[in-house]
Amino acid sequence: MTDDLSRVLAPDPVEPADAVEGSLRPRTLAEYIGQREVKANLSVLLEAARGRHEPADHVLLYGPPGLGKTTLATIIARELGVSVRYTSGPAVERPGDLAAILTALDEGDVLFIDEIHRLNRAVEEILYPAMEDFALDVMIGKGPSARSLRLSLKPFTVVGATTRAGRISSPLRDRFGATYRLDFYTDLELTEIVVRSAGIIGVEIDLAAAEAIARRGRGTPRIVNRLLKRVRDHAQVHGDGRVHLAAVIDAMQMLEIDDEGLDSTDRKLLAAIIQKFASGPVGVAALAAVLAEEVETIEDVYEPFLLRLGFIDRTPQGRIATDLARAHLARRGFEIPTPRRAEPDMPGLWEDSTNGGARA
Ligand SMILES: Nc1ncnc2c1ncn2[C@@H]1O[C@H](COP(=O)(O)OP(=O)(O)O)[C@@H](O)[C@H]1O
Ligand SMILES: [Mg+2]
Repeated sequence: MTDDLSRVLAPDPVEPADAVEGSLRPRTLAEYIGQREVKANLSVLLEAARGRHEPADHVLLYGPPGLGKTTLATIIARELGVSVRYTSGPAVERPGDLAAILTALDEGDVLFIDEIHRLNRAVEEILYPAMEDFALDVMIGKGPSARSLRLSLKPFTVVGATTRAGRISSPLRDRFGATYRLDFYTDLELTEIVVRSAGIIGVEIDLAAAEAIARRGRGTPRIVNRLLKRVRDHAQVHGDGRVHLAAVIDAMQMLEIDDEGLDSTDRKLLAAIIQKFASGPVGVAALAAVLAEEVETIEDVYEPFLLRLGFIDRTPQGRIATDLARAHLARRGFEIPTPRRAEPDMPGLWEDSTNGGARA
């Protein structure tokens, strides 16, 4: 159960080849809900490439996990009428691995590189001329007689995905013709996604129930799709299989997901800042140690949504929990110690967070 629970909100796919997740993926730009600005820009880029009968410019997609980066890469290839080859930063270990992938691409193909910020240096260096000149520089021989030989590649398009653009080296970033940031979805867009997904997996759901799932979906399509499946299971076991509001509320209670969509890990994170560090500021490394989580997981998975909710603030001194966060936890029975006062040499720090919290 605990294991299952942690999987429900995990924004990363449980299995990359999850068949249902695959079937829920929009296949065209028109089917892709939300991200209006990205879609508008992308459709111009694709249209132009088609008009010139050339491969599209390299595209970099960034944003938190589960917002639709892999889906967009697939759509890009489909809209261009080409094949897509999937790989990821950690999967390409040696320059030779990348060379093998590049030489196997057909004219115009899309090469999707997930977690592109995790490519190692030596591999990145192979990628620069490949992206810029469609050329592959190979070293022949060793020592003083070594020489470099340039092979040409068929033109292709790289679609890179990353959780944060700031992690990518600037020479690599410069080689992308277009960079798009995916943002969290609105409740309205998520409701549309829930209704669409319910139709695909054959679940009867009413609007109130879809909205209730959307509200708890942390702005993330992958999470609403997972919540939908859990609620469907619940409705099937405890009801007639149809999803009503009551089934959603029940299922969420069992999954310990609160009305803002926070799960127990989110609440633990907030509680740590508030109780162990007097609401901060606290550095992310100290927080990671207390929670026994990776710094990267906190920064990429938990923080973005808590920041968006206004529950935490980032300051140069570290993370602080806001009044909103304290009020949220207080309502759930957490003990709330007095926040640390601003140091005299950090004026404004505390005011910032109380202003942020004043909206409550
Ligand atoms: N714009 C969207 N409209 C509808 N469903 C979406 C959209 N974006 C993502 N999804 C759903 O969310 C799931 C996760 O998307 P994915 O592209 O794998 O995210 P990422 O690669 O950014 O982690 C997909 O299986 C798809 O069903
Ligand atoms: Mg992905």
